[in-house]
Amino acid sequence: MLKNYYEIHGFYDKVFDDLGIELAELDWIMCEILGKKRSQLPLCGNFLESEYKEIETAISERLKLKPLGYIFGKSEFFGRSFYVSRDVLIPRMDTEVLIENAKDLILKQKENVIDVSVLDIGTGSGAIAITLQLETGARMTASDVSFEALEIARKNADNFGCEIEFVESDVFKNLKNRKYDIIISNPPYIESKVIEGLRPEVKNFEPLLALDGGADGLKFYREIIKEAPKHLNENGIIIFEIGYDQANFIVELLGAEFFNIKTIKDYGGNDRVVIARLRRGL
Ligand SMILES: C[S@@+](CC[C@H](N)C(=O)[O-])C[C@H]1O[C@@H](n2cnc3c(N)ncnc32)[C@H](O)[C@@H]1O
Repeated sequence: MLKNYYEIHGFYDKVFDDLGIELAELDWIMCEILGKKRSQLPLCGNFLESEYKEIETAISERLKLKPLGYIFGKSEFFGRSFYVSRDVLIPRMDTEVLIENAKDLILKQKENVIDVSVLDIGTGSGAIAITLQLETGARMTASDVSFEALEIARKNADNFGCEIEFVESDVFKNLKNRKYDIIISNPPYIESKVIEGLRPEVKNFEPLLALDGGADGLKFYREIIKEAPKHLNENGIIIFEIGYDQANFIVELLGAEFFNIKTIKDYGGNDRVVIARLRRGL
């Protein structure tokens, strides 16, 4: 039996390394189960048997390449902890760039209009809708085609005391005649044929529904951009998370009805966000 922090690392470091799993994840597992900060782990001494068993169970799940978020049922996003299950995508760091930009836009609009309405299409865990409401006080509607994802999003909203309208909808189908100041979406944007080659953590555990953007990865952008003018108020704004190589295609799709189109990079220097304003009404 491996009794402490040092013995766990001594035994598992190479195993994790061989599987391409970051060694820091061993620490996160111990932090979560022991309820300690990372800096406290080396000082913990020997674990109780019950603690050790829990640590072993979590490690063995991770060795099957299950992501930590699904092992513990929660994940950090924009400094908050969200419930996740295998019905929802684990919110990504990259999406924080989308939040930063949407937050700025909403707060700017709020200088003139107190009540800014925002629709989040494909809300998943609710990470975007909840974070934006908490950060800006915007009136949020959040939709997803997945009933199970909406259950998780509602649980997160309740946990944070958010009041968000949740709508089960295939893109705009159940949102007829509804208009918003801002539409935001991080839709599925991976090309169908690429999914098989993704890391096992993603392709074997995350919902296909959250990943598959059709043959060219652009299916949802096409659909949302086509319908968005009917669902945006005058001067409305659309803001998307995009794949690193999709900016040119999406800018072209937006060209007919939108202007002021901006592409923003993530912290890794890849195109990650596109923002555009509805032309009509100008
Ligand atoms: C990439 S995930 C984004 C989840 C979450 N917004 C985030 O950023 O972490 C895409 C989401 O779109 C949802 N989705 C897939 N097809 C959809 C459709 N036809 N209409 C609405 N939502 C859809 C999926 O269920 C999934 O929750």
